[in-house]
Amino acid sequence: MKTISFLLLIFISTTLFFSSCKSTGPKTTDTAVQYAEQYRSQVHFSPPSGWMNDPNGMVFFEGEYHLFYQYYPDSTVWGPMHWGHSISTDLMHWKNLPIALYPDSLGFIFSGSAVVDINNTSGFGKEGKPAMVAIFTLHDMKGQKAGKKDIESEGIAYSLDKGRTWTKYEKNPVLKSPGTPDFRDPKVSWNAEAKKWIMTLAVGDHVCFFSSLNLKEWSLESEFGKGIGAHGGVWECPDLFQLPVTGKPDQKKWVLIVNINPGGPNGGSATQYFVGEFDGHKFTNESTDIQWADQGKDNYATVTFSNIPESDGRRISIGWMSNWQYAQVVPTGVWRSAMTLPRELKLISENNKYMLVSEPVKELQVLRERKTELKSVVIKDKLELDHQFSQPLLPIELDLKFTLPATEASSDFGLELYNSKGENLLIGYYKTKGEFYINRTNAGNSDFSKDFNGIHISPLAINGTSVDMHLIIDAASVELFAMNGKIAMTEVFFPTEGFSGIRLYSKNGNVQLDSGSIYKLNSIWKESK
Ligand code: FRU
Repeated sequence: MKTISFLLLIFISTTLFFSSCKSTGPKTTDTAVQYAEQYRSQVHFSPPSGWMNDPNGMVFFEGEYHLFYQYYPDSTVWGPMHWGHSISTDLMHWKNLPIALYPDSLGFIFSGSAVVDINNTSGFGKEGKPAMVAIFTLHDMKGQKAGKKDIESEGIAYSLDKGRTWTKYEKNPVLKSPGTPDFRDPKVSWNAEAKKWIMTLAVGDHVCFFSSLNLKEWSLESEFGKGIGAHGGVWECPDLFQLPVTGKPDQKKWVLIVNINPGGPNGGSATQYFVGEFDGHKFTNESTDIQWADQGKDNYATVTFSNIPESDGRRISIGWMSNWQYAQVVPTGVWRSAMTLPRELKLISENNKYMLVSEPVKELQVLRERKTELKSVVIKDKLELDHQFSQPLLPIELDLKFTLPATEASSDFGLELYNSKGENLLIGYYKTKGEFYINRTNAGNSDFSKDFNGIHISPLAINGTSVDMHLIIDAASVELFAMNGKIAMTEVFFPTEGFSGIRLYSKNGNVQLDSGSIYKLNSIWKESK
């Protein structure tokens, strides 16, 4: 409820300014020009203008990946929520489409999911064409202001033209509020064994599973989560899916993602997950520790695509690259916030524990423009890399493999980005503490929030001497995937002048760079598909 009260405050102040505007959605078509502002992500999705938060309704259909998102087009802070819409054929280049869903008399359109109703269980399909069905939360802001508690219910809408236009179901809501204020973010998927649709819904400090045969009538199956896992904040945006266990043919497990705000490992918003079994009725948790999908401060509301063909078989997630602690005050221009890169999620089993590992999808490679190979070298203090690159330096991708020598091994090493103003961003590994970290304490603008600055860490003691880091660094964000994706950390940064230099560093000893590849990345907005 904390989030919602906070959001309400912001809403009241912004509606004073924007109450008379009717949203028409993105206006500019010349993306290359529009997407060139300071801090504008060049390889990540961001809306042309206005406010964006969670990814919604991610679904693949007839060759297109659909990314809907929480959107308020009339301001750069949160307000009456719409579903913005963008599509891609390669998960990298996005084409902005008109707004898909507008707020209505039942409320704002909060987060949710989309499915393709292949068997026409809903009856919305026509002439053999399956409907795309969106399932979302209707948030009654008037009711909230009036102090009511039954303010969140679930509604549906369908599209028969590949998500271009939508019809809301006339009998919405399809799932009424039980009277508890936090009752939101439905993630729906077809459960082939139970032959039912299963909805996973966030309900304050737990999730509820509902089932349906037609997407219109829902009944409660079970609930999960009270007193289990992290509870530093409200549970939001859940997801439930099955993954094969890498290297163990025939073994599959269910993963339950639960986003939480606040209460993340480095403060504020974050994504936790549980691994276990789901029998079509209830989830049985097998995770013993609290597990985080990403330990950086800026990856929230992570959910996955539905309807990816079996022939592809990937489980692909996208998260919102921000944190409710400061999302509404970060110093971007006409837009606020970007999404993470789409990531492929896999499940591994190690030391009797199941773990999610993630890496950017392989389609990222289409953006690679120029490769620089780094030779094997011992780094004693600093190794400058900047002279090899044209400006602007960012966006770039780095793949670095290090070995720690048996004696005189560095206690702290990594990668530094810097500019002529003396600002820098450090991404590295503290050997003594067994922690990966991102240090943005001196990375430029930060006085917009007391919660922004800091050294944020992801604990992982390394067995052996090899350390790998895969980094995608955009104009205002870094995504670190280390130890073959066991570590993911996502953070945003706002230098007062773009980072133009890059170097490797090693403190109190040596580290050997075994191999390094650096790729300059092409902007996704220059040749919009
Ligand atoms: C998560 C969230 C969701 C809600 C949406 C509202 O960031 O609070 O729980 O549906 O944002 O915009």
